[in-house]
Amino acid sequence: MASHSITHVPVMAEHALELLRVRPNGVYVDATAGGGGHSLCIARRLDGGVLVALDRDPEAVASVKKRLADFPCAKVFKANYSEIDEVLARAAIETVDGVLFDLGVSSMQLEAARRGFSFQADGPLDMRMDTSAPVDAATWLANAGRAEIIRALRDFGDVGPAARIADKIIERRQKNRMKRTMDLAEAVADALDFVSGTPAEVRTVFQAVRMVVNEELKHLEAGLRAARALLAPAGRIVVITFHSGEDRMVKQLFRGWTRPEILLSADGRVIEKRAPLMRQVTRKPVLPGPDETERNPRSKSAKMRVVERMAPETMK
Ligand SMILES: C[S@@+](CC[C@H](N)C(=O)[O-])C[C@H]1O[C@@H](n2cnc3c(N)ncnc32)[C@H](O)[C@@H]1O
Repeated sequence: MASHSITHVPVMAEHALELLRVRPNGVYVDATAGGGGHSLCIARRLDGGVLVALDRDPEAVASVKKRLADFPCAKVFKANYSEIDEVLARAAIETVDGVLFDLGVSSMQLEAARRGFSFQADGPLDMRMDTSAPVDAATWLANAGRAEIIRALRDFGDVGPAARIADKIIERRQKNRMKRTMDLAEAVADALDFVSGTPAEVRTVFQAVRMVVNEELKHLEAGLRAARALLAPAGRIVVITFHSGEDRMVKQLFRGWTRPEILLSADGRVIEKRAPLMRQVTRKPVLPGPDETERNPRSKSAKMRVVERMAPETMK
């Protein structure tokens, strides 16, 4: 039965694994292997099964390969999750029992100043998860038009004073001072110089630029659709988001997939009503409990949603 009330769980990462329902001989994909925490937990539960772990970040892939070296059941790939189908074809896998997406940036990425994700440490204004991608944050900020910057800050950071901040970015880039993380952080602080201390917008501006540079929503939609096409009966997709735009996309896609399909004639009559192929395991998102949000403030914005492909016997 789908849950109709919001559930708060003590530890999201553990609950994600419960909801993925790992069977020892199943086939699972960790689409965002990151530091390898989830992958390791999945690999430990397997006996005869397979784990495909992927990440678009080559540094994450190298560290996950090391962490999973003792698990022959684990295959690790550097790939974008929007290409899950190609990765699985390479591994000669046709269907999977579960796919996990734990979105956003990893602590490994945030903590390495040279990667440019953190507004608290000086580093090059890079922010690429895939370090071989052609456009880094400095390049995007050097070339984007004013309207484009404003739109990105509003859409991906809910930044109110987006125009003031865009103007400061443009002013600084004309003086060739938009190359480092601190250049961007200072542009935001200059635009909001009436705020004492570091304005909260610094964090949301960094988030917005990161989401644009990595084209995160575009890949998320493609990744979820590809994952759905690969699910075996009773297979699940578990998604943890940290951003309202991401959660909205997951919610809308899942809602569409779990509604009956109605075929209409040209004059609007219902010709056929087909039962949906999927069901929502959690109609409302699962949220972290107070202990976790206190221990890890970043988890405050986390939301988890789960869908399952119907097994033939449960379909009408
Ligand atoms: C929050 S971290 C995952 C942490 C991981 N679950 C763990 O236990 O350590 C998100 C990871 O997803 C990766 N990522 C983001 N977008 C991706 C995409 N489109 N394809 C593949 N990996 C992606 C990032 O590079 C990052 O390493």
